[in-house]
Amino acid sequence: MLDQYIDLLNQGEIVAFPTETVYGLGADAWNPAAIQKVFAQKGRPADNPLIVHVSSVSMAEEFTGQFSKDALKLMEQFWPGPLTLIFSKKPEVLDLITAGLQTVAIRWPRHQLAQNLISQAGPLVAPSANTSGKPSPTKADHVKEDFGSDFPVIEGGDTDIGLESTVLDISRTPYSIYRPGAISAGEIEHVIGKKTQQNPPSTDTTAKSPGTKYTHYAPKATVRWLSSNEEADNLQTLYLFHSENISSAEKNKVCYNGNYKRLAHELYDRFRQADHKGYASIAIEPLPENLENPLIPALANRIQKAVSQ
Ligand code: TXA
Ligand code: MG
Repeated sequence: MLDQYIDLLNQGEIVAFPTETVYGLGADAWNPAAIQKVFAQKGRPADNPLIVHVSSVSMAEEFTGQFSKDALKLMEQFWPGPLTLIFSKKPEVLDLITAGLQTVAIRWPRHQLAQNLISQAGPLVAPSANTSGKPSPTKADHVKEDFGSDFPVIEGGDTDIGLESTVLDISRTPYSIYRPGAISAGEIEHVIGKKTQQNPPSTDTTAKSPGTKYTHYAPKATVRWLSSNEEADNLQTLYLFHSENISSAEKNKVCYNGNYKRLAHELYDRFRQADHKGYASIAIEPLPENLENPLIPALANRIQKAVSQ
């Protein structure tokens, strides 16, 4: 089933594939012409570096030198899984991947199709498989919506998590989380016994993690946080509630009843659906401060980015 896609990748073509976070747009990480196609297909600025996807620790070693003790602990605990680690890069890693930085981002995805693909086709660079500025794809149909119905996509159903991986820079201390995801700061700190730093997108992080300065995740509908005193009665607005004990039979109100996993799983599809259905805006109940559940900071980060557009 994967053979035709492996052939395409070997020929320097690009292929979208499922991961446990979102669909990725893959290209051979050692083929500059293929990587150029990724930037062109997405309309992605050349100064936004890409994540290299691997299916073993030895494959990661093609891109970075000796692993520190902390790196080994993190890889042991969280790979394969939704954690991207930023390492110092080997000199031969293509500048196209790293946008000229001295570091390289690497992730070993957990999704079985992704692992099978990478173990046969070799390491793949893979940004999310959406047009730049659109919400990341969590279904094969989202990829086709952005890239056309003939675009080669490996069908893997809905992605499990629905939000992109946690990005952690361990190339310098203190370690920094550039993007929150399903693996939390607390879980990371527990494994390495050290504090991490949380970098909000508006600080000097832009120089270190260029992707944080670009628009992301936004549908055409205006996204905003619901005010506490607001009547949720505008038919042009899609309302998303997450707290428990709120329910509604109205079709423009979706209630998650404390199920943040489901909200994360569906968020980007809700954004896209809101546009298809012609909603003018999406109003989302403000999230609680809860650092116990890693999905809450990750959701808050993605929604806030959409709100800021
Ligand atoms: O879950 C994910 O990570 C998905 C799936 C497909 O694996 N991929 C993904 O890739 O979200 P992308 O390109 O949409 O986001 C990668 C983020 C960007 O914000 C980029 O700036 C940052 O990682 N990044 C990549 N290399 C970096 C580096 N060397 N230093 C700092 N940030 C880096
Ligand atoms: Mg992306």
